[in-house]
Amino acid sequence: MSHTDPSAPVVLQATGLSKSFGDLQVLRSIDLTIRKGEVVALIGPSGSGKTTVLRSLNGLEVPDGGVLTVGDGLELDFSYPISDVHRYALRDRSAMVFQAHNLFPHKTVLQNVIEGPTVVHKVPRDRAVADARELLERVGLLEKQDAYPHQLSGGQQQRVGIVRALALKPDLLLFDEPTSALDPELVGEVLSVIKQLATEGWTMAIVTHELQFARQVADEVVFMADGVVVERGAPATFFTAPEHERTKQFLDRLLNPFG
Ligand SMILES: Nc1ncnc2c1ncn2[C@@H]1O[C@H](COP(=O)(O)OP(=O)(O)O)[C@@H](O)[C@H]1O
Ligand SMILES: [Mg+2]
Repeated sequence: MSHTDPSAPVVLQATGLSKSFGDLQVLRSIDLTIRKGEVVALIGPSGSGKTTVLRSLNGLEVPDGGVLTVGDGLELDFSYPISDVHRYALRDRSAMVFQAHNLFPHKTVLQNVIEGPTVVHKVPRDRAVADARELLERVGLLEKQDAYPHQLSGGQQQRVGIVRALALKPDLLLFDEPTSALDPELVGEVLSVIKQLATEGWTMAIVTHELQFARQVADEVVFMADGVVVERGAPATFFTAPEHERTKQFLDRLLNPFG
């Protein structure tokens, strides 16, 4: 898509993010800038640190070093201990959509969607219900509002997961392989909802192995391996003329899995 406006406000800036688990250094000085309305696709081999990046942007993981600056001036410098107040403030700006199986099983679709707004944001229930219904309508799931998660297909569950994130009205939506747990025939309906969000101007960071999709929706593709950003660029150049050998090998393997 590549329509990022370079003068659009920065929603989130990460500089030099580092993170170790014990002796294993998982992130080594990751830099990332996400502007309003921009879609960033994070790709890379399993274990390269993509999930850890997303979790760090969302305050679920606390890096050991680096700085995160969020839109309106919230700055977290990880060389110092981070207070819970700052961590929760960070978490409040973004909403994460996980691989799958993240809905409350004993709550209906509608109850799942209004949980965050009513409990976290103290939105009055009537208001939250009205918002939730509107969002469910937009992804074609209004008639499922009283169903329980187990009564839905994996694709429908994942669309509810997306609606639940949207209901929080975050500045930034984070997706961690949103289709990788789905049967192949259900992938399309979820990707098309995400595409629709991109055209509506949502700001998003998406970890995905769906290269075709990344090419269509991303403004920037970021390729990670072994905890570093190896290469980044607009999809048109990134996919057709990657510069680094590591990138070429990765793309080759995904595009020609049987050699
Ligand atoms: N909580 C954790 N404790 C220990 N090691 C972890 C933890 N989370 C992730 N790792 C390790 O960090 C590395 C990067 O993981 P991850 O960010 O999940 O990569 P990706 O999402 O790219 O597959 C992997 O080697 C993984 O095993
Ligand atoms: Mg992962």
